[in-house]
Amino acid sequence: MAQHIIRGIARYAVQRVACIDLTVVSPSIARRIRHKCVGFTSALGLLMLVIAAPAGAEDGYDLWLRYRAVEAPLLATYRAQATELESIPSSPTLAAAQAELMRGLGGLLDQPLSRVDKATRAGSIALLTPASPQFRALQLNLKAVGPEGYVIRSLTRDGMPMTVIAANTDTGALYGAFHFLRLVQTRQPLERLDIQASPHVQWRTLNHWDDLNAHVERGYAGASIWDWHKLPDYLDPRYTDYARANASLGLNATVLNNVNANATSLTAPYIAKAAAVAGVLRPYGIRVLLSARFSAPIEIGGLKTADPLDPQVRQWWQAKVDEIYRAIPDFGGFLVKANSEGQPGPQDYKRSHADGANMLADAIGKRGVVMWRAFVYSHEEPDDRAKQAYTEFVPLDGKFRDNVLVQVKNGAIDFQPREPFHPLFGAMPRTPLMMEFQITKEYLGFATHLAYLAPMYEEALQSDTFAKGKGSQVAKVVDGSLHGYKRTGMAGVANIGADRNWSGSHFDQANWYAFGRLAWDPSLSSRAIAEEWARMTFSNEPQLVGKVVDMMMSSREAVVDYMTPLGLHHLMGRSHHYGPGPWVEGGPRADWTSVYYHRADARGIGFDRSASGSNAVGQYAPQVAAEFGKLDRVPEKFLLWFHHVPWDYRMPSGRILWDELVDRYSRGVANVTAMRNTWTDMAPYVDAERHAQVAAFLAIQEKEARWWRDASIAYFQTFSKRPLPAGYAPPEHTLEYYKALSFPYAPGSG
Ligand code: GCU
Repeated sequence: MAQHIIRGIARYAVQRVACIDLTVVSPSIARRIRHKCVGFTSALGLLMLVIAAPAGAEDGYDLWLRYRAVEAPLLATYRAQATELESIPSSPTLAAAQAELMRGLGGLLDQPLSRVDKATRAGSIALLTPASPQFRALQLNLKAVGPEGYVIRSLTRDGMPMTVIAANTDTGALYGAFHFLRLVQTRQPLERLDIQASPHVQWRTLNHWDDLNAHVERGYAGASIWDWHKLPDYLDPRYTDYARANASLGLNATVLNNVNANATSLTAPYIAKAAAVAGVLRPYGIRVLLSARFSAPIEIGGLKTADPLDPQVRQWWQAKVDEIYRAIPDFGGFLVKANSEGQPGPQDYKRSHADGANMLADAIGKRGVVMWRAFVYSHEEPDDRAKQAYTEFVPLDGKFRDNVLVQVKNGAIDFQPREPFHPLFGAMPRTPLMMEFQITKEYLGFATHLAYLAPMYEEALQSDTFAKGKGSQVAKVVDGSLHGYKRTGMAGVANIGADRNWSGSHFDQANWYAFGRLAWDPSLSSRAIAEEWARMTFSNEPQLVGKVVDMMMSSREAVVDYMTPLGLHHLMGRSHHYGPGPWVEGGPRADWTSVYYHRADARGIGFDRSASGSNAVGQYAPQVAAEFGKLDRVPEKFLLWFHHVPWDYRMPSGRILWDELVDRYSRGVANVTAMRNTWTDMAPYVDAERHAQVAAFLAIQEKEARWWRDASIAYFQTFSKRPLPAGYAPPEHTLEYYKALSFPYAPGSG
């Protein structure tokens, strides 16, 4: 209640406050106040009160599970629909589900919720599984929802209206509990509920790129959440909150360590540590996996070789896997990065990726799976980096064991702000392909830039591979429906760290959230997910929801515009991957430079991957190749990905390419300015602490968007040799200035 009064005052104050210099209080509010300047001095006092209000301060730790009290008059309605909780906590998972409902509804309804064995009051909620005495009596048919699904239904029992959350398993009940809470958190009606849900993908997995020394590769949210040093003796309570957050999304697997794996993680002490984490995550339906270093038999096993066909090597892995299963009976299996970026792998012994994956799969057997990554780099540089994974993996289709999934990044290069879908999707009908998305924003401004990534995930998932004619979307490859895969999975490279707000910024939490929701159901819309998240994370105020969702939806496009417009890619600074570096050239491999990808010259810019160039388009189905491969048909967003285009090429806008490029870069910056303004307007609806941090980060983003724009324009102008179109500001500094900037200590370095 107090919060609502405070918000009301804040809104009033912002609307009516006087022309007074308040920069000392908050520059963003001051800006807005000057703007609104209508002469109402007494509001100043109220505003000070709001800014100081500790009740409003939030640090983001609660994520989307904040459970703040519902506002009147809806509060009374909800209270009548959640009078008590019927549940018998007969397992750790059911106890967790019950605890979440009591905590969640206790907060949302602003009063404690009592638990009973059998409900006796109208408006009760029952959490039921086949083990619950009331389950049979209700004759619920849950066949359709499978082992992890649930139903939420309004019904009448003994003449009393009630809501039932029922599932075939305890984990299904836990997911149902979170769904019910989400209904209240997003202010949905609780009458006449008839919800049935089950996951579309089996392995809904986070990949932590966490090293054993607590460093997180490409992590921008502090140190690793896993305190390997104190494990297994100290179990940070954070692990439980991590499990809650993941379970709330339906994520059911997590790979604890970096794909650039250290064999030490497979030694007995580290297996014990992983087992301790697994023990915390198990009640939340989450299985632990480990990244396996292919050469571990040599490094920690004392063998001379890691050849996957060597009997001793095979025996070593068998013994190792058995040892892990003794410690972690529900161990999920291994994730492997092999023969990529210097990592060891089967090709070191002239064996194939299938030989390597199958050896591990045999050792694991029916107990788990091997997730074998298709992000590979051969020693010999290919004519086009984009073609490599397809070239290596398609010939292996059908050669992998049943319990192997091949994990494929959404695009063929490397998690760029925009890539066309990976040509492997649709091209391996006899091998289950998992999707790998990057949640951590390695190439998208780390933690500070606001970039909501669900539109990017959605764009990839909804791309049509045409593998079986029109309507063969990537999502259908991933959920197994296109090729009838027995196993399915989706992996997200986590953005989670030890930072208090988990992800390094408040808006980056949305990317974790969206990944989880899409792993559950790849057909969900990014906008709907954004709306859920904004309501749960900030507020249900309509003035906030619409604007924040719009801002989120345009944010990734803004980043594409100011970093890599029109299909450009891989233009970042070497090693740190943060700022612009379109001039990067030389070094160990051409395909680690920028010039390799943009190919700018006096004539034009872009990578010719059409039939007359590298013919990477030939890796797609003919319908897709015909679109991407033709200059007059390729979508603008992929223009320079597939074509080398003259500077004076006439674009659909009527502008020549050079002018269009300048416009896109500038448009990206303008979009960030617009996001800043929107966010300033959100001050009345968001607690001061989170509002201030987002505002500060947006200011950083605006400055850096300009840096990207100016540096890129300054550089490409040396090729186009054309003036900027009229009305566009020239770069603030010289090209030499931008080239001289260095960031040896940026978090992404190394
Ligand atoms: C990118 C990233 C690396 C990471 C690699 C991978 O190249 O920069 O840090 O190891 O992807 O996905 O394996």
